[in-house]
Amino acid sequence: MCGIVGYIGTQQAYPILIKGLHRLEYRGYDSAGVSLINKSGALTVYKAKGKVDDLEAVCADKDISGTIGIAHTRWATHGEPNEANAHPHYSQSHNLALVHNGIIENYKPLRSMMERSGISFCSDTDTEVLVQLVEYMQNSHKCDLFTAVQLALKNVVGAYAIAIIEKSHPDRIVCARKGSPLIIGVGKDKNDRAEFFIGSDATPIVEYTDQVVYLGDEEIASLDRTGKLQITNLNNVKQTPQLVKLQMSLDQLEKGGYPHFMLKEIWEQPDALRICIKGRVSNLNSKVTLSGIIDHKDKFLNCRRIIICACGTSWHASLIGKYFIEEACHLPVEVEYASEFRYRNPVINADDVVIAVSQSGETADTLAAIQLAKEHHAFVYGICNVIGSSISRATDSGTYLHVGPEIGVASTKAFTGQVITLCLLGLAIAQEKKTLNDKMLNMLVNELQQIPDKMQWTLEHNKDISQFAQMFTYCKNFIYLGRGYNYPVALEGALKLKEISYIHAEGYPAAEMKHGPIALIDEEMPVVVIAPKRGMYDKIVSNIQEIKSRHGKIISVVTEGDVTVKEMSDFSFVIPDTRDCYVPLLAVIPLQLLSYYVAVAKGRNVDQPRNLAKSVTVE
Ligand code: AGP
Ligand code: GLU
Repeated sequence: MCGIVGYIGTQQAYPILIKGLHRLEYRGYDSAGVSLINKSGALTVYKAKGKVDDLEAVCADKDISGTIGIAHTRWATHGEPNEANAHPHYSQSHNLALVHNGIIENYKPLRSMMERSGISFCSDTDTEVLVQLVEYMQNSHKCDLFTAVQLALKNVVGAYAIAIIEKSHPDRIVCARKGSPLIIGVGKDKNDRAEFFIGSDATPIVEYTDQVVYLGDEEIASLDRTGKLQITNLNNVKQTPQLVKLQMSLDQLEKGGYPHFMLKEIWEQPDALRICIKGRVSNLNSKVTLSGIIDHKDKFLNCRRIIICACGTSWHASLIGKYFIEEACHLPVEVEYASEFRYRNPVINADDVVIAVSQSGETADTLAAIQLAKEHHAFVYGICNVIGSSISRATDSGTYLHVGPEIGVASTKAFTGQVITLCLLGLAIAQEKKTLNDKMLNMLVNELQQIPDKMQWTLEHNKDISQFAQMFTYCKNFIYLGRGYNYPVALEGALKLKEISYIHAEGYPAAEMKHGPIALIDEEMPVVVIAPKRGMYDKIVSNIQEIKSRHGKIISVVTEGDVTVKEMSDFSFVIPDTRDCYVPLLAVIPLQLLSYYVAVAKGRNVDQPRNLAKSVTVE
């Protein structure tokens, strides 16, 4: 996913813009650029393929003065990653410069129309069509920039977050969004003079101000040096800016002494989950309260089924949620890949509850699945981590994870936050539907509250992973096995290894081995088996025996005190005992650590793995 940063005020813009791009690097990108109106009034654009550091090298000998500017990290969709296609893009006159997140679906006909009227293009991107269209509107309607942006966007099909500056009006930035996030930071400099910041999320803004406006879909904003913030919709109807206080701190964005954000976020899980649970479980009567369902209980009590839509790791968390909610609430739950759900013409009834699970709240497929569900009048509930994200704004109600910003592309604390939140949702529904007796409900709630401490125990009792992970750097394939609640953990463990070490790995239901995959087993094949001393333990022991008899290497996750599986294993990780339904929250931790240390041993870019983005905001 790409990123936008903007600044207008009294400070030099360049340092703020570059620092903001570094803050957005975690989102994944392939090139970067910056545009400034410098002290001589020139509109400059500097771009580089590769990293923000490469952009800084390009700017090292350039005039980077000026108190207004925009900057961008690109994740290419149209036009290969190179300097010409990097943003910002000039208009033909070089009076405008624009940056864009998203996709202009109808860029080809727009480009053809403008080429026929004599406009020439310098790139292969859809974005350049937009800046040329804005200037085309200015010239053909003899209007100001704000109006030209309104007119241009009314002719655009697709998703966008844009920021645009104009050489002839250096006191104003215009920005707009539809389907891709954009946040406006409202600040004051040390002399109490107005300044504005723009960011694709809050990370480039949080160190300057905690007062922000989340721009809404199809809204356009004009930010000027006098502190005037004007917002309208595409039809020029004024919108009142909703100023809110950011719930993010600067230290959450720093590595805090860890070598990578991913390791920091793995170790943050106990505290993150304490915050996730806090205020949602009463210590007096073990009652679970989720504010998002208080006003919508009837939707959950009267629905005939729940459909959960998600992608990637969030889909794995949703699978665990399915198991929990079906068992606790006796309610059918279907889990769908959002990318499949949105296109397969699914049956969606008005008495369905559709839950979207998304850490970023910006995943395009999940957002589209919500829109489809709303078209069928289903009640749509969001479980997101990023406050003010598109999915959290598109749903009828929802619950935030509150696990703090997740910077590492590989999701860790968000995964366990999603699982805990889905368990809380299941408990809240069960206590209303009375599908669990008080004794069982109290026991599940009390054990849930022990999980953060048990996670801490797990982290501290598996530190030796960093020593033996090196041995697996040579492996070409892994298999991860689990049963019941731990089958989704097997999927998640495999995904973690794949996405940061680039070693192929597959997750399977353990009993599925004999239906084909067991043919893969040999002494070169590490098999990770989640084998808690809980339900189906004897069956998982049999599975391990089947693998050992074919010389497979066993890496097991065992319950503290279990020697049987430990003795059958080449390596084993240990977790404290807990109920079946909560084992995933503990068993996933050694698998996160295993993937992290193998990837580090292989010299991978752990926080920003190749080809990946923190959130896939395009199809
Ligand atoms: C997980 O480690 C990956 N980063 C990826 O699978 C991610 O879970 C997926 O893209 C969904 O993202 P979301 O939760 O922000 O919607
Ligand atoms: N579609 C635009 C391009 O390919 C913007 C991509 C992005 O969101 O970074 O340049």
